[in-house]
Amino acid sequence: MSTAGIAHYGRLNRYLHWGMALLLAWQFTTTSVRVLLSDSALDELLWPTHRPAGFLLMVLVVARGLWALASRASQPPAVSRAARLGHLALYGLMLVVPTLALLRQYGSGRAFEPFGIPLMSGFEGERIEWMVAAGSLLHGELGWLLLALIVGHVTMVFWHRRQGQDVLGRMLVR
Ligand code: HEM
Ligand code: HEM
Repeated sequence: MSTAGIAHYGRLNRYLHWGMALLLAWQFTTTSVRVLLSDSALDELLWPTHRPAGFLLMVLVVARGLWALASRASQPPAVSRAARLGHLALYGLMLVVPTLALLRQYGSGRAFEPFGIPLMSGFEGERIEWMVAAGSLLHGELGWLLLALIVGHVTMVFWHRRQGQDVLGRMLVR
């Protein structure tokens, strides 16, 4: 079956796209406040939400990726090879960035209970150095790279619109 006539993404794809966009906006607010206003009252208020929100994003991106694959035939085709690669890169970073942080969290030996879910009980003794090092080296850097890619993504949406291709309509919640 040709997918050329499909006018917009499915409902679940659209809700996941915008829900995660909101959560990511929150996530980058917490990190920006952390960098720009460290140790302020606002930082102390927002930072404790970074880890649980990041965990939630991780769960959501796995669900979204699986659903995107399962529903592939009924979604509109990418407008170009570059768009396809760009979307794949966004998925890749949305997965790798929280995974590195969770790896570091585990390796640190400290307990982690997002939303009260006993995900990691922590352990006594030496921390696992390579896990901590990988997270510390790459989590923040790749996180900022994800933000740069998101800015590029939004720019391209409006660039396509100027070219007369209304891609925004394909993702709008109606
Ligand atoms: C998609 C989800 C996530 C995004 C986009 C994200 C983004 C970021 C960014 C950009 C930074 C750098 C802040 C700086 O330059 O100081 C950062 C730091 C941090 N994140 Fe995340 N994060 C996510 C998920 C998580 C998760 C799941 C955890 C823990 C379970 C976590 C724990 C931390 C910690 C402890 C830091 C401070 C240390 C460091 O800079 O690496 N993050 N995050
Ligand atoms: C905030 C983080 C964002 C991320 C991580 C993200 C990621 C993605 C991804 C992976 C896709 C491919 C379709 C899918 O499987 O969902 C997509 C499509 C799309 N996104 Fe975003 N997005 C974000 C924000 C935005 C914003 C703010 C806009 C508004 C301008 C936007 C507009 C669109 C549109 C119009 C499409 C459909 C493109 C097409 O028709 O091929 N996105 N986005």
